[in-house]
Amino acid sequence: MSNIIEPKLIIHGGAGSSLKGKGGLQVVRQSLHDIVSEVYQLLLEGKSATEAVVRGCQLLEDNPRFNAGTGSVLQSDGQIRMSASLMDGEKQRFSGVINVSRVKNPINLAQRLQNEDDRILSDYGSTELLRELNSPIYDPLTDLRLHEWMEERKENFTKKMAGVVAENEARRGTIGVVALDTQGRISAGTSTGGKGLERIGRVSDSAMPAGNYANVYAGVSCTGIGEDIIDECLAAKVVIRTGDGLSLEDAMKKSMIEANKNKRDLGAIALDRHGNIVWGKTSEVLLAAYHDGKNISDCLEWDDDNLVGIANN
Ligand code: GLY
Repeated sequence: MSNIIEPKLIIHGGAGSSLKGKGGLQVVRQSLHDIVSEVYQLLLEGKSATEAVVRGCQLLEDNPRFNAGTGSVLQSDGQIRMSASLMDGEKQRFSGVINVSRVKNPINLAQRLQNEDDRILSDYGSTELLRELNSPIYDPLTDLRLHEWMEERKENFTKKMAGVVAENEARRGTIGVVALDTQGRISAGTSTGGKGLERIGRVSDSAMPAGNYANVYAGVSCTGIGEDIIDECLAAKVVIRTGDGLSLEDAMKKSMIEANKNKRDLGAIALDRHGNIVWGKTSEVLLAAYHDGKNISDCLEWDDDNLVGIANN
């Protein structure tokens, strides 16, 4: 076979303030590295970027530590509503679900919608789709998330948003995966339980091009406060700047400088068709890990005033 290129992969499990304990950090690191390892193997076996992204999102959604799928945070009324999207960069096609309930893997619905005429469904449409698919009813609630919500209730929900990484560490949460496959195709997927404690009907960035975007040049998945990501139109901005001729690093840097100036609280992971892996954040911490073709690495302890990091590959 000709023109087989080295696949690349980056994933994230949210962004926010410092991990409180090394124990927490090590557990998060292990979870992220295990998922990178499993998904990178799929890319080596020749699976498409889209297949790899969907699998990576499923694994992150299934890990109760992260705020997506199982372990999603509760909204102000004590319900879980999740959002997810998938963008196939080769086809430049976006699909997603907004505020869906009682499903294990919202990313599967986004994948199911990729080839439909109507590709983004709200809560009502997502429920109808689940019914059409005879999808088993699944409760993504964990004891820990319920406990967090009950504690917040005692304080009359005065917090700006819920904790996002479970077990004591408050984070802005979302999960995301961006992959480059052996054929040079890029895909991006993002999934979230939302901000936590939000009012009913609030729409997350995760099922918008602001939070998840890809084309033939680059792919980006965002995390952080959805309203900040939407106001910056972050994912689409970085990808389009890359297509317009900026390097991925410069596109991310320009976008992060703007976001920082506007006092946003967010992070993003990205890769481009040349195999460059880049991340950026205005928040304290970005829980991201990647495979550069040789090694698995992460930026859990990365703390750089430059706002943007690049993998050495
Ligand atoms: N970025 C996740 C949310 O704000 O919903």
